[in-house]
Amino acid sequence: MNAIASMRRVPPGPRGLPILGVLPAMRRDPIGVFMNAALRFGSVAYLKIGPRRGYLVTNPDDIRHVLQDNARNYHKSPLYEKLRMFLGNGLLTSEDDFWLRQRRIAQPAFHRQRLAAVAGVMASAAREAAARWETFPSTGQSIDVDHEMMRLTRTVVVRALLGGDLGPFASTIDEAWTVINQHVGESFWSLGFDTLPTAKYRRFQAARALLGRAVDHVIAERRRHATETDDLLSMLMSARDEETGEGMTDAQLRVEVLTFLLAGQETTSLALTWTWYLLGRHPHVRQRLESESDDVLNGHAPEYPDLARLPYLRMVIDESLRLYPPAWGFSRQALADDELGGFRLPRGWLVFIVPHVLHRLPQLWPDPDRFDPERFSPDQTASRSKFAYIPFGAGPRQCIGNQFALIEAQLIVATFVQRYRLHVASGYQADPWPLITLRPRLGMPMIVERREARLKQPDRGTEPGASAFRTDVHSQSEP
Ligand code: HEM
Repeated sequence: MNAIASMRRVPPGPRGLPILGVLPAMRRDPIGVFMNAALRFGSVAYLKIGPRRGYLVTNPDDIRHVLQDNARNYHKSPLYEKLRMFLGNGLLTSEDDFWLRQRRIAQPAFHRQRLAAVAGVMASAAREAAARWETFPSTGQSIDVDHEMMRLTRTVVVRALLGGDLGPFASTIDEAWTVINQHVGESFWSLGFDTLPTAKYRRFQAARALLGRAVDHVIAERRRHATETDDLLSMLMSARDEETGEGMTDAQLRVEVLTFLLAGQETTSLALTWTWYLLGRHPHVRQRLESESDDVLNGHAPEYPDLARLPYLRMVIDESLRLYPPAWGFSRQALADDELGGFRLPRGWLVFIVPHVLHRLPQLWPDPDRFDPERFSPDQTASRSKFAYIPFGAGPRQCIGNQFALIEAQLIVATFVQRYRLHVASGYQADPWPLITLRPRLGMPMIVERREARLKQPDRGTEPGASAFRTDVHSQSEP
């Protein structure tokens, strides 16, 4: 008998119903099921979810084993099939050689120098949006910050990676994502993919068709105005197979553009929305962020090089991604038997890795539900396993856009903090909705207050009496 076969067979886990296991509970409250399993049964918990069996793992060493050290033994789980049915087989959903090839094609678009270049696009999109908000404070009405952040991150992804705009689709695409996120997200915990011709399914099909047309629009525009650029879309379009010299088919190109639209817009937008929520609920953190911003920026609009001097800003965003990770959970399927935490994991079984649960375990994070950016001070970060904090996943399938997202989120928060304070609308209770991503179920109503940045002293070169805080968008765009 080999070492794995002789291992203790199955760890304990929630009992669930005879055939369905915890499937009905998952449909109601997946995060609750995962959290209770981790707290009650320890670092490896057995889960039977309908016909599927697997383990929830919450020990950082086991997570490193699955995502990194023994990553070759794992594929994305059949739950990704639901995503594949909608997205197709692309960078997010594919495996092995095909995945590696797509990853290599896209990777240069995310290199450090390239990101420094697209940061200018991010900063100017943030300034445009902040200027558009000028009328909000005077109305006293709440705005839906979730909606506003979706709009802004869509603009950034489309301009920075796809070098264009969505033309007539810009105003409808966000609603299409909502329909798709809900349909696919809810289907994760159903036995099949809901394809009965109900009104809901027809809405899903219509949303899918709309996104297809939006992607075709972006590609057609680029072909019409073929320009020399080194953005992601150019890389995807000009990639050639080393052996055959052939480019990507149009169908494959569409899959990848759709993947980047989905993965790039929605997640970063949610990271921002939850950050505004947390800042609204914790005025002392917001005040410290404002002080840092005023001291460092002294009224000038934030640009990429400033980020290195705004450490508290980064700590706030890291802490927000801990409490509300937009990619709240993901899963793998074992290709061969493996061992996890002393238990045998049989071939074909699933492994659930749930950042939302991992990031709130009391043994890893004292007082886990408290919003405390200090957890990400250099000292505290150094004393923790890297695998206790995985908002972007880990190992070879780690998010390709993680630096892109972090730079974008920092620039957007810095730009808005300089001009506005956001207050959570009275009576609002956050209700995190775990679909493909972690959305606020009722949106994010917030009241916008105007803020004047505190200036240390006029910048050298500023005329006496003139404010260094420039509100005009065009003058801020100047180098
Ligand atoms: C706060 C923002 C973001 C979060 C929390 C996030 C999270 C994640 C996570 C957890 C994964 C790994 C999933 C798994 O292992 O199964 C992933 C993969 C991926 N992300 Fe992100 N992401 C973010 C932003 C972005 C952006 C801005 C882009 C593109 C512009 C992007 C593109 C992708 C792609 C293409 C993959 C698949 C990579 C591969 O398998 O090689 N993401 N993301």
